[in-house]
Amino acid sequence: MKRLIITTLVMAFTVSWVQAQENIATLRGDTNLNQQATPPVMPKVDNEDIKRKRNYPMQPPTIPHKIDNYQVDLKSNKCLSCHSRKRTEESRAPMISVTHYMDRDGNFLADVSPRRYFCSQCHVIQTDAKPMVGNEFIDIDDLLNVEQDQ
Ligand code: HEC
Ligand code: HEC
Repeated sequence: MKRLIITTLVMAFTVSWVQAQENIATLRGDTNLNQQATPPVMPKVDNEDIKRKRNYPMQPPTIPHKIDNYQVDLKSNKCLSCHSRKRTEESRAPMISVTHYMDRDGNFLADVSPRRYFCSQCHVIQTDAKPMVGNEFIDIDDLLNVEQDQ
């Protein structure tokens, strides 16, 4: 009797394990463990130099150029070599806005605030990768139009 119970349990477990295996989405996809999958092509970074629309007024604008090898560390900040107040005349880059000079109490500092030093905390490049999940974001202007039409 005891043996029968154990055998049944083992079988039930194996069946559910096999089923679970079939339904789980993994990064490997359906490639076997002992095989190497062909890696997907790396998406290309958009380097068109064209400013993109912001989805809402406070959105950090996305970066319209490549930032490969742009070092940002304690000693140097490559982004500021174009985007700081002193450099924009030569670089033709938009200046970091005044909020980048404010400390957390709203005081204006002489130079970029440490809170805004690591640019890629907020600003990101865009690639031509396809979105992995859907997005239902609606622009506030469209939302207001819908309300007015009603
Ligand atoms: C060689 C000069 C240069 C460097 C270095 C540089 N940028 Fe730029 N950036 C520009 C220019 C010029 C533009 C204007 C659009 C264009 O021509 O690409 C721009 C545009 C932008 C914009 C878009 C602003 C807007 O209003 O839409 C952001 C954000 C930005 N850069 C962030 C960065 C960050 C973050 C770094 C560092 C990782 C960086 N940039 C490094 C020259 C530079
Ligand atoms: C904590 C988030 C944050 C960090 C860090 C940050 N930014 Fe921004 N940035 C923003 C936001 C939010 C905006 C849009 C609203 C505003 O101007 O404050 C912006 C706007 C900008 C703009 C557009 C300015 C304009 O007037 O059109 C540029 C260029 C820019 N940032 C560059 C940079 C660079 C270069 C760095 C690094 C030295 C940096 N930012 C760091 C959040 C950030």
